[in-house]
Amino acid sequence: MNQQYSESAAILEHNRRFIPGGVVSINRAVRPEIVFVRGDGAYVWDADGNRYIDYHAAFGPHFLGHNDPYVTEAVIGAIRDGQSLFGSGTTVHEGRLAELLCEHVPAAESVQLLNTGSEATYQAIRLARAVTGRDHVINIQGGYNGWHNDVSNNLMTPLEQLGPRRSPGEYPYYPISAGVPEDHQRLIHSVNFNDLASVEYVCERYPVSSLITEPILQNVGIVHPQPGYLSGLRDLADKYKFLLIFDEVKTGFRHSVGGCSKLFGVLPDLAVFGKAIANGYPMAALGGKKEYMDWFADPDLKRRVLLAGTYNSHPAPTVAAIATIERLLMNGGEVYERVDRLGDRMQTGMEAIVRELDVEATVARQGSAFCLYFMDHCPRDWHDLAEHHLFDLDNRMRRALIDRGIYPFPVATKQWSISVAHTEADIDLTLEQIAATLSELEGLPIRALAAEDDSPRQEQAPGKVTAHRLASMRR
Ligand SMILES: Cc1ncc(COP(=O)(O)O)c(C=O)c1O
Repeated sequence: MNQQYSESAAILEHNRRFIPGGVVSINRAVRPEIVFVRGDGAYVWDADGNRYIDYHAAFGPHFLGHNDPYVTEAVIGAIRDGQSLFGSGTTVHEGRLAELLCEHVPAAESVQLLNTGSEATYQAIRLARAVTGRDHVINIQGGYNGWHNDVSNNLMTPLEQLGPRRSPGEYPYYPISAGVPEDHQRLIHSVNFNDLASVEYVCERYPVSSLITEPILQNVGIVHPQPGYLSGLRDLADKYKFLLIFDEVKTGFRHSVGGCSKLFGVLPDLAVFGKAIANGYPMAALGGKKEYMDWFADPDLKRRVLLAGTYNSHPAPTVAAIATIERLLMNGGEVYERVDRLGDRMQTGMEAIVRELDVEATVARQGSAFCLYFMDHCPRDWHDLAEHHLFDLDNRMRRALIDRGIYPFPVATKQWSISVAHTEADIDLTLEQIAATLSELEGLPIRALAAEDDSPRQEQAPGKVTAHRLASMRR
């Protein structure tokens, strides 16, 4: 068991002298305060020499695993080749990447390349405002689309703040950042995922330019779109003439090269990609219908939408993205079958463990991404989660697993990500540690025997899942 984090503590103490909080990007400031120093495939190592099987994947990008050799070689090769940031004119590599995207992503007739998901969602919304001549934006309670003013709101809003379910209706604006001007806040409307009536409610009251949503709500685990939800959004976009933006920063390339528009057969007007597109390098793409994308190069300066950046399509991430996509496409996309098999092994194993322990819990999964919820059903939206999931238990489980060498991000409801580099042995070891952890945790909810039972959930004392029982569960 890993319990030694003293070197990490020393590094953090040093960094606190120069960086607010000691860590850049506040989302990385979590407990335990571990400093990672190396990553290879499915594993990461910390400054104290502890090894972890990684399910965080740096918030998702490492779909091929850390430092995938094919991607690394492509980047090193490009740099050795004299590739540099030229800052003038187009490049062969950006043309190749754009071509690959337009060929394989149904939502992309034409693309722009950026460095981060936030930049891409910012530009998508700006483009939608320019095209529609309207300013209001709908986003989703429980979704995350980046750090900028249009989307810094209503993420994991606590139940006390949410109040009663609002449908049809909208939630008050709950900022996740200081400094968003009040005038800007009133342009943003937050509604539940899977709630078409609330989208219509907002559209009837405000001139809406766009709705931005993750097609699978993956910033709070795995919340699937219900049948008809995404196509219903498409219909509402057509009816109210707003642009439908799929934020595929988390879903894109992890579930399929074509993104969710391919998986679910619904075409947005614009789609945004990042993370797994370049397996850990800072690359993002914004694609969409050509008639809209052309606004980025409109000869009329009054219509042109400014998209500019010194580092856009830097050769290292561009080459990394090309190599990543090539690798994903190899042998008919067999990597997706591989991670789905591993995901299924994990889900089946987890379900067997919670059944054996009589724990009220549900596994939600899409291919390589999954989440264990301590509730009796897969969530339909953030409000459902906030109402039913046992957050404290989830946090304690994650913390205990980290001490045992398994690294899910240590925040309740965050997605677990399997990579192509994980093996069946990694999954089995993880399941053993999950079984051991749950056996020891206090306060597990007992599965209700009757289907409808309004009585408060009981808690159970720790019980043991023996190695023998675990092995028989897996058979
Ligand atoms: C769905 C989604 N959109 C946008 C972003 C922002 O991307 P970035 O952190 O690269 O700016 C994230 C980041 O987690 C995300 O999960």
